Formats: sequence, structure tokens, C-alpha cells
Amino acid sequence: MTKILMVCLGNICRSPLAEGILKSKLSPDTAIVDSAGTANYHSGSQPDRRSIAVARKHGLDISKQQARQFIVEDFDDFDQIYVMDQSNYQNVIKLARSNSDAEKVHMILNLVHPNQNFDVPDPYYGGDRGFENVYQMLDEACDIIAENLD
Ligand code: 4NP
Repeated sequence: MTKILMVCLGNICRSPLAEGILKSKLSPDTAIVDSAGTANYHSGSQPDRRSIAVARKHGLDISKQQARQFIVEDFDDFDQIYVMDQSNYQNVIKLARSNSDAEKVHMILNLVHPNQNFDVPDPYYGGDRGFENVYQMLDEACDIIAENLD
């Protein structure tokens, strides 16, 4: 059983999509997938309505997810931690207690573009197009995570 955590800033736009997309590609017997935000602004909230809408358009229901903040114990509970951008990376890495914690943290788009450290752009202040763009980027990355688990 592999435990995978998706992390963004608010846990309402990007990482809930990443969680929903990856879950849809894996059997619940293979992996546990969760998501969290480095900030606590939206703790307890459901995903942004634009993330819910783009997921629904692709046949996924992410509306039951509830935002929560990343906590240091997540390093104990998860095997792989994927962050959406360089700011998330810095915020998570500064909580790492050891090399083994730090080695769990990866920029999600490095799966698609190795070593490039490309960000999944924050769509919060943009329009609906930004959410479809994020969906496509995450779908491609999650295909690779799923293949690597097979
Ligand atoms: P997320 O997007 O990190 O993809 O969930 C954001 C959501 C909320 C805020 C920023 C980014 N905010 O500033 O409230």
C-alpha cells in the first residue's frame, strides 16, 4: 500500500483536483491518496466551485473533499508528497525533520518534465480556462504516478 499526499497552498484548487484525478486511476487496494494545503485559510472548506466543475466535466466528483493544513506528521503517514509549485516546495521542505522526510517531497511536474521545476500555476485568481489547464497538467502527471505504482 503506497500513501500519496498532494499539496498546494489553499487545498481548495489544485491539490483537490490532483487527489481526485489520481484516485480515479488507482484501485483503493493499491494506494491511499489525500491532499493538504500549506496554509490554513480554507481548512474545513470544500474545493473551489471551479475545481469541482472542471472535475465534474471529466466525470469526477471531488465535492466531498474538505481542506486541511499540511502537518509535520504527514511525513510519517505518507510515502510520496507531491507539491504543485516552488513556494509549496519551500514551505513543506522547511518542516522536514530529516533527509528521509525531505526525500519524500517532489515537484509534481518533474514527473513530466524531469528536473525543470515547473509550477502548476495557481488558478485561484484566474478564469475558468486556468482550471482546465491545471486539470490537463495534473492528469498527465498522475498517469505517470499510476504507471510507476504498477
Ligand atoms: P490552491 O489555490 O493553492 O491551488 O488551493 C489557492 C487557493 C486559495 C488561495 C490561494 C491559492 N488564497 O489565497 O486564498
